[in-house]
Amino acid sequence: MTTKEQTYYRAVRQTVSALAGAASLKEAFDVIVRRTSRAMKARASLMLLDFTGKKLAHVAYWGLPRAYVQKGMVDVDRSLAEVVTGAPVAIVDAASDARAQYPSLAGKFGIASILGVPVQLNGAAAGCIRIYTRQRQEFDHSDIDFALTMARLAAMAIELKPQRHAGEPVPAGPPLRQARSVTFAHPSEEEFVRILDFYNIEWVYEPRSFPLKWEGDRIVEMFTPDFYLPGLDLYVELTTLRQKLVTEKNRKLRRLRELYPDIKITLLYRKDFERLLAKYGVGALSQARGRGVQGVLYSSAEIQSRVRELAGAISQDYAGRHPVMVGVLRGVFCFLADLVRQMSIPVEIEFMAISYYGGNSSAVKITKDVDVSLAGRDVIMVEDIVDTGLTLNYMLNYLQAKDPSSLKVCTLLDKRARRIASVPLDYTGFKAPDEFVVGYGLDYRGEYRNLPFIGVLGPETSAGQERSQEEVASQ
Ligand code: PRP
Repeated sequence: MTTKEQTYYRAVRQTVSALAGAASLKEAFDVIVRRTSRAMKARASLMLLDFTGKKLAHVAYWGLPRAYVQKGMVDVDRSLAEVVTGAPVAIVDAASDARAQYPSLAGKFGIASILGVPVQLNGAAAGCIRIYTRQRQEFDHSDIDFALTMARLAAMAIELKPQRHAGEPVPAGPPLRQARSVTFAHPSEEEFVRILDFYNIEWVYEPRSFPLKWEGDRIVEMFTPDFYLPGLDLYVELTTLRQKLVTEKNRKLRRLRELYPDIKITLLYRKDFERLLAKYGVGALSQARGRGVQGVLYSSAEIQSRVRELAGAISQDYAGRHPVMVGVLRGVFCFLADLVRQMSIPVEIEFMAISYYGGNSSAVKITKDVDVSLAGRDVIMVEDIVDTGLTLNYMLNYLQAKDPSSLKVCTLLDKRARRIASVPLDYTGFKAPDEFVVGYGLDYRGEYRNLPFIGVLGPETSAGQERSQEEVASQ
C-alpha cells in the first residue's frame, strides 16, 4: 500500500466512525467533505440534486471560498456530467474545459483541476462529491476509488439519516428534500418551510454558523441563521414578536454584517413572508394556495429563464429574417408577450381565436383569423400548451394552406400523456407532467390565468374538469 492509499484508508475508517455519532445529516455531510478534503489535500464539496432533478445545490463544502459556493445552483446538464452518467469525471484544466459551468470562476478562485464522482441512491442519481485542486492534477485510480467510497458513505448517510426511526422506510422523492427532512426548532420554521415548498423555493435549514466573537483562538459566540435561500443568495432568520429576543438578534446581525459584509441576511417576521415571496414573483397572488392550487410546478423565475432561452434560440435560428409569430387566444397571451420581448430580431405578432364545435376539440372553428397574408412568410405558431395535439394539428393544416415559406411551432408546455395527434414541436419550454396545470395564461373555467407561475390544480378542483372532458368525449 502506498502512503497515499494508507491516508485514504485511514480517512475512510475515521469517517465511518464519525458518521455513527453524527447527530444530523448536515453533520454527516460536513464530516464526509472535511475528511475527503484533508485526505486528498484539496477542497471538496457535496452537492445534491434539487426538486427539479436538474440543478445541484451545495449542501456541504470544505476549503472552498464562499463566493464560489454561492455562485448559484449548478445546472446538471451544463456542469460536469458525473451525475447524469453515473461515472467519475476528471477535469484537468478547469479554466478551459467546456464541461465546467463556471470556468472563469475556477481561475479566479484558484481551481486548477476538478474530480467529480456521483452519489447514487438505489442506483439513481442523487448528487455528487467534487474535489478541487489548486495545482493541475491527473487523478489516478486510488484518488477515484477513494472519492467514490466517500460518495457511497454520503448515500448511506442519507439512507440511514438520524432523524428517521429504525425500520422506517427511506422516503420517496428527490434526495435533497429527503436530506432536509429536518427537525425544526420552532413551529414557525416549519410553517415557513411549508410555504417555501409550496412555491418550490429551494432552502437549506441552518446552513452554516458564523463565528462572531473570539477569546484568543477560541470562538465564544456564533450565529446560525435559520435558513439559506440559494435562489436569492439570502440568509433568513425568523423571529417572533418577543422584543427581548429581537433586540438580541439585531445585535448579532449587526455584528455579523460587520464581520461578513458580503453576506446578505434578513430578519423576518411571520407577516414579512409575503414580502419575501414577492421577490420570487409570488407575492400578493399567494392566495392561490387557498384557491385549489396544490403547488407550483414552474416558478415565475424558472419560466422567465426558459422563455429567455427559447427567445434566444429562435432569434438565432431566424437571424436576418422577419418571422410572423401567430398566437392562439387566449391561453398564450402571457407566454407570447414575454417571448417576443426577449427576442433580438424584428417580428410581427398575429392572433387567432378558435372555438370548438360542441366543446369537442377535434372539431375546431376559426372565429378570428390573422390579419395579414402569410404567403411566403416565415411563420411561427406559438402555443401555451399542447395536450391532445388536436388544436395544433388543425391550426397547422389551416396555416399551411396559406402558403408560408416556413411554418414552425413553439410551445411553452408539451404535455404528452394524452397526445392523440402527433404534431411536430420545434421549440418546447417544458415537458409537462400529466397534471391539470393553471397559471401564466392557462385557466380552469376562466380563472387562474393571472398567476405568475404555473401551478398544479388539486384533485378536488380539477376533478370536475376531468369529468367534464370525459363527458365531452362521450357526447
Ligand atoms: C388550450 C391551449 C391550446 C389547446 C391545447 O386552449 O391554448 O390551444 O388548449 O389543447 P389540445 O392539444 O388538447 O388541443 P383552451 O382550449 O384551453 O383555450 P384558451 O387558450 O382560451 O385557454
